Order: sequence, then C-alpha cells, then structure tokens
Amino acid sequence: MKAWVTGARPGIDHLRLEDRPEPRPAAGEVVVATAAAALNYRDLLVIGGVGAWKPATARVPLSDAAGVVVDVGERVTRWSVGDRVVSTFFPHWIDGPIRPGVLRNSLGGAARDGVLAERFVLPETALVRVPDNLAFEEAATLPVAALTAWNSVVEQGMAGPGRTVVTQGTGGVGLFAAQFGVAVGARVIATTSSLHKAAVLARLGVTHVIDRTATPGWDTKVQELTEGIGADVVVDVAGGNLDCAMRSLAVGGVISLVGNLGGFDASFDLRQIVSGAQIRDVSVGSREMFERMNAVIADRDVHPVIDRVFPFGDSVAAMEYFRCRRHIGKVCISFP
Ligand SMILES: NC(=O)c1ccc[n+]([C@@H]2O[C@H](COP(=O)([O-])OP(=O)(O)OC[C@H]3O[C@@H](n4cnc5c(N)ncnc54)[C@H](OP(=O)(O)O)[C@@H]3O)[C@@H](O)[C@H]2O)c1
Repeated sequence: MKAWVTGARPGIDHLRLEDRPEPRPAAGEVVVATAAAALNYRDLLVIGGVGAWKPATARVPLSDAAGVVVDVGERVTRWSVGDRVVSTFFPHWIDGPIRPGVLRNSLGGAARDGVLAERFVLPETALVRVPDNLAFEEAATLPVAALTAWNSVVEQGMAGPGRTVVTQGTGGVGLFAAQFGVAVGARVIATTSSLHKAAVLARLGVTHVIDRTATPGWDTKVQELTEGIGADVVVDVAGGNLDCAMRSLAVGGVISLVGNLGGFDASFDLRQIVSGAQIRDVSVGSREMFERMNAVIADRDVHPVIDRVFPFGDSVAAMEYFRCRRHIGKVCISFP
C-alpha cells in the first residue's frame, strides 16, 4: 500500500510517497481503508520537526481520517468489515479526565504513525462510527477540530439555550465552535478578520459577527451585545489576547483555551478571576465526548465546512495550501 512518510530532513518538501507492507490486525485491532483525511496545524509541526513534535524516525503523518473497516483481528467485538469509522486523536483516551501518557501517544505524532496512507491499523477502541448524515470527507474533519470545539463549547462551556458563546475566526475550530453553539441553542457571537468571512458565519446561524481588525477591543462589543452581562464561554484560539477574552466574560464564565495564534504572552487583571472566571486548557477530547458530539451532529444534521479537497497524490500541495492559511473551514484529502 502507498503511504506518505516524513523524510530524513524536516519539511513538507521532504515528504515522500512510499510502498509499505499491507497492515495486518493483531488481536483487538482493526484495519481501515482510508477514504478521506483532513489537515490540522499540528500536522505541520510534526512534518516540520518542531520541538517535541519531531519524529525520531520516518513517520506517516496526520491524525484525522475516515474510512471503511476491511479487516478485524481476533477478539474484536465493536466493528465488522464494511463499517464506516473515524479515527480518534488520542487512541488511549476513552473517557473521564485526560490522564498521563495520553498526550504522548497522539496519532500521527512523534511516537506513532498516522493516517496519510491507503490503510491504517488501530485498536478497535480507538475508532468511532461515522455519523449517518456525513460523507467521508466531512467525517474526516471531526477528530481534532470538531472535537476540540465541542469540548470547548459544550463539555467545558456547558452552552445551551440562554447562554452566550464567543468564537474566534473561520478556521477549523472556530467554525465548528460556532456551529455547535448554534446547534445546542446558544447565542453565538463570532470574531473574524473580514466581511467576506462574516457572511460565512452568518449563514451558519451566528447572531453577531465582530470584525476583530476594526475592533481589537471586542470585549466592549460583547458586553454591549449582552447588555453588560458578558459571555458564558469564550473559545480562545488566539491566546495572546487573553485580557480581552477575560473582560468579555460573564460572572462565572469560562475561557476554553485552545490555541496560541496570537502569541504565547498573555496578561490580565487578577480581579477577574475573583469574579469566578475560569481559564481551562482544552486538549481535543475523549472518545466518549466524540460519541456525544456525533449524536448531536446526526440529530441536528450539522455539516462541516470544507474549503478544499485534494487527491491523495497531491498531499504535498494540500499541505502547502493549508500552510498559507487562506482556507475557511477544513482542508481535506480524498483517497482513490
Ligand atoms: N488545544 C487543542 O486541543 C487544539 C486542537 C485544535 C487546534 N488547536 C490550535 O487552535 C488554533 C486554531 O486551530 P484551527 O485548526 O482552527 O486553525 P485554522 O484552521 O488555521 O484557523 C485559524 C483561524 O483563526 C483566526 N485567527 C488567526 N489569528 C487570530 C488571532 N490572532 N486572533 C483571533 N483569531 C485569529 C483566523 O480566522 P479569521 O480570519 O476569520 O479571524 C484563522 O483563519 C491553532 O493554534 C491550533 O494549533 C488546539
């Protein structure tokens, strides 16, 4: 089978397409024929050999894929040949709070091969079913961006009717966060950098869109829109503007801290913590959260926003395109 693998030197240009032996399932494992994969920022860190993401040996990158079960090992009970499945980012995080060891074992990271291959093998416990309403490309976008957004908005943020969610941007996490906020009946206020992107957010049901380039202190606008109450949850992909996020919170509100697109340095007034505000780190999510999310995706017929789909053979072009960060939603790869 064909697989893309990282080269001897780091970087997208050094990826190579290789023939690898057909995977065989050990007891408790499942082989999946990949139908579609999706890109995340972290994949560029693995391929680029950045810090702890640097693989010690040639690795198949990417964590997010959907496909069909083609072989099952002994004692597999959850899946049969022909089932439509999606990978999970942390194969060992099934339920409960995150535990030591989970982070080191992420799929397509430094320590284990990922899914940018015609077939991949995983423990049967590390897969979830594709929601019935989704095509494979759509399902492939779920393991990281969607689950991170779901965890931020619903699991940590407890969003629902009568609650206000602030989301940031029109990338993978930002759009899913907006969609889940709308799906669970919350009021969603989103920031973005352009009018053109604001139209996409409005189509998804976002109530108010704030142009963050024209209004860098968007907390004032959030307070105005919420009649001085503030937001119950802010899904923060920027990190660096934490002060603004803190000032936009309601008493007892939570910042789900997802990313650091705006830098690593942040400061805020400690008195805001005294008012019950919380900052909580988000690390994707567990398989149980994934299953709860998929139930809502199917029930409310939520469809991921896909910017572009590249063929498997053009995976390098897909990564170059993704690296330029002009996408809205997700960038996917389809398999022949
Ligand atoms: N903690 C986790 O588990 C986890 C999981 C997934 C991703 N992440 C991290 O979360 C971040 C977002 O991931 P993604 O996949 O959504 O990326 P993405 O698809 O590249 O989207 C990024 C979007 O965020 C907006 N943005 C960029 N810089 C911003 C800033 N300084 N302030 C506010 N908004 C900004 C832009 O949208 P507009 O132009 O519309 O504003 C941009 O399109 C990345 O740092 C990623 O590494 C963390």
